[in-house]
Amino acid sequence: MSYKQTKMWIVDKVDHNLQKSAEIKEAALWISEGEVVAFPTETVYGLGGNALEDDAIAKIFEAKGRPSDNPLIVHIATKQQVEELAADIPEMASKLMDAFWPGPLTLILRKQAAIAEKVTAGLDTVALRMPDHPVALALLEVAGVPVAAPSANLSGKPSPTTARHVDRDLHGKIAGIVDGGATGIGVESTVVDCTGDVAMVLRPGGITAEQIAEVVGEVSVDPALGESDLAPKSPGVKYTHYAPKGALYLVEGSREYVQTLVNEQKQEGTKVGVLTTVEGEHAYDADVVLACGSREQLASVASKLYETLRSFDDGGVDVIYSEVFPNEGVGVAIMNRLEKAAGGRMVSEK
Ligand code: TXA
Ligand code: MG
Repeated sequence: MSYKQTKMWIVDKVDHNLQKSAEIKEAALWISEGEVVAFPTETVYGLGGNALEDDAIAKIFEAKGRPSDNPLIVHIATKQQVEELAADIPEMASKLMDAFWPGPLTLILRKQAAIAEKVTAGLDTVALRMPDHPVALALLEVAGVPVAAPSANLSGKPSPTTARHVDRDLHGKIAGIVDGGATGIGVESTVVDCTGDVAMVLRPGGITAEQIAEVVGEVSVDPALGESDLAPKSPGVKYTHYAPKGALYLVEGSREYVQTLVNEQKQEGTKVGVLTTVEGEHAYDADVVLACGSREQLASVASKLYETLRSFDDGGVDVIYSEVFPNEGVGVAIMNRLEKAAGGRMVSEK
């Protein structure tokens, strides 16, 4: 499917009457009628289609170039919708919904038959999430249907945190984009499997395993996270993701060590980038040095991560060295995404 144009609706997320805005009404109508439309959430932009219609879902997979065995998250605006879409809802799931919805938490539950086959890629479970973003919630409410939405990037690219990122990847491939400004959290939702005895984190995200444990008592983490030879329970986790065009390396070591690596590359005539934070911005001599938030606040690093990875593409670098971040709090999600973007390329000083 190709579109001569991709419509851009600009909306103000602080508008109290979003449901009544002509832009939201039109975008919602297009979704309910089977078109695919990108919209902002508190994590990243999603590419939405009617989760009850296989044809709409096929358009999402086609536009993104997404492998068909990778299921989509279904977005909802009310808790009543959970009953229509999922079955056998365990108590831990209800507790997690009460604690974190709307918010960056996706729950895997047994699915109901109403959901289009293609959404769940043949699995008997469904991923549900209620996003914490006024534009997303207004759109979902007005559309009146559950909306399946993966991140609105071309498959393999960093997820989009602005409407401009979406437009760059998908212009002419989707019907429209609701531009509600930059997203906040910047990394995707935490995916938690609630179909077993213990809640299991399949993808780290905006809500940490510690926060989940506080609500349900016990939590496990998919053993396949971080082990490349195990099959992950969340199909999407196995694909290379978020990758900039230049080869990204994660560097465990001092700034001086990173600079040595940069110098070696420069001697060979390679164009080199460094991913650092405001703290290290002036410490490097490289072709492109980008500050991604501040180490003092890991949330600021998460928020800028994908935009920074995309900016290296604009700088045309061949190799990127990235500093690493503490594996705690939202740092777990940051490191998970950086490791994916690096495809396992890691260099250590020791
Ligand atoms: O923050 C987010 O979650 C964003 C925004 C747009 O909501 N969405 C997002 O969707 O990140 P996507 O498609 O890029 O990632 C969905 C992840 C994939 O890893 C997929 O394999 C997993 O959720 N997933 C979906 N349904 C599943 C299921 N039934 N069982 C296990 N994993 C599932
Ligand atoms: Mg994605």
